[in-house]
Amino acid sequence: MDRESLPNPSVSAVVPAPALAFPKGFLWGTAVSAYQTEGGVINDWSEWEKSPARIASLKKQGLEPNDFICGPACDFYRRYKEDFALCQKLNNNAIRLGIEWARIEPAKGVWDVEAINHYREVLAAAKEHGLKVVLTLWHWTSPAWIAKDGGWANKKIVSHFLRFVDLAVKEYGTAVDYWVTLNEPMVPIGWGYIKGCAPPGKKFSFYQAARVFFNLARAHNQAYKIIHKHFKDAQVGIAQLTNHFEPARHWFFVEVFFARLFRFFHQDFFYFLIKRRLDFIGLNYYHHDRIVWYPPFRRNRNERQSDLGWEIYPAGIYAVLINLARFKKPIIITENGLADSQDRQRGQFIIEHLDNVHQAISAGADVRGYFHWSLLDNFEWNKGWAPKFGLYRLDRDTFWRTPRPSAKIYAEICRNNRLESK
Ligand code: BGC
Repeated sequence: MDRESLPNPSVSAVVPAPALAFPKGFLWGTAVSAYQTEGGVINDWSEWEKSPARIASLKKQGLEPNDFICGPACDFYRRYKEDFALCQKLNNNAIRLGIEWARIEPAKGVWDVEAINHYREVLAAAKEHGLKVVLTLWHWTSPAWIAKDGGWANKKIVSHFLRFVDLAVKEYGTAVDYWVTLNEPMVPIGWGYIKGCAPPGKKFSFYQAARVFFNLARAHNQAYKIIHKHFKDAQVGIAQLTNHFEPARHWFFVEVFFARLFRFFHQDFFYFLIKRRLDFIGLNYYHHDRIVWYPPFRRNRNERQSDLGWEIYPAGIYAVLINLARFKKPIIITENGLADSQDRQRGQFIIEHLDNVHQAISAGADVRGYFHWSLLDNFEWNKGWAPKFGLYRLDRDTFWRTPRPSAKIYAEICRNNRLESK
């Protein structure tokens, strides 16, 4: 299917049409990751956060280093039952969450039985709360000993990861409905090896970045085989950050070419390496990128923005869904959300994005579920604690979770399995 042959979403897709029903069995959920919510994890990120170089760089920018330490996070590790109850309040029938490799294998070849059992209990509790499970195996973090061994630039890491995957599949296989082997591989590569704003904090290390890229692709392909060896019918995919790269001027071949180039390097290249080992496509959509031919190459109109300055552009999710439909695989929206501490825009954001999702389904995209990022405010990586992505507000001192008004809007949609007319 070709985007150009479909109705122009930016014109037609922003105003919800009356009562849009979603397919029967559609998955409604929220997404969280282990490191961002659990608390008390020691891994490559936690070590990097506290490193003298990182602290110095924050101070240089006039920032308070404590605001950039994950620490106890949301205490999800102990409060997961409470949080699954919140998912129930949202009328969700699914959740996307992760397990933390560093907990399970804190030292090379040392398996932590308590952690292994803990995650078994977590997954069982999810089921008890009526939630299907989308399980992420790697959401950017690895055990600290992996980093000391050269990290993902070292090919040997792939076999360590596969051992972890094998264990996870044996331990949790019956409780998992969808496996996400990797979350957004391109982001930690760009941050960690080109920009230096994530572990291992390297800048312009293109050669190492390429090695990590191919090792992650290898890791996915092998993990896919392992999961299928144990569970023939398993559903395995990755969650890929899929911004909508759009030429600022559709008639200008240079910008059209640049937009394609960006899409190729950010999305398609990785898919090209793993496309034979994908049962479904996990789509993380946050915004579009309007590409111009001159640096810094992105020039969005930014008529509406999130607290992070990301343009709110619901029509983009339609475009990327139609683009992904060419793989002829089921698609799950594994993340979509915004930082909005005042919750002024989140409700409308959800409605407009889901309206576009519905239109993409009507146009032939096989979308099976939607997971809002995120259930609750959590640790936003190198941006620390300031961005608020949660349907639930988190009080970081008491860990209390308070629903924001948008939670009610989302809960209503999930309950009805449709968007009502406004
Ligand atoms: C990541 C999340 C992150 C979210 C918001 C996604 O790219 O998977 O971990 O919190 O974006 O920035």
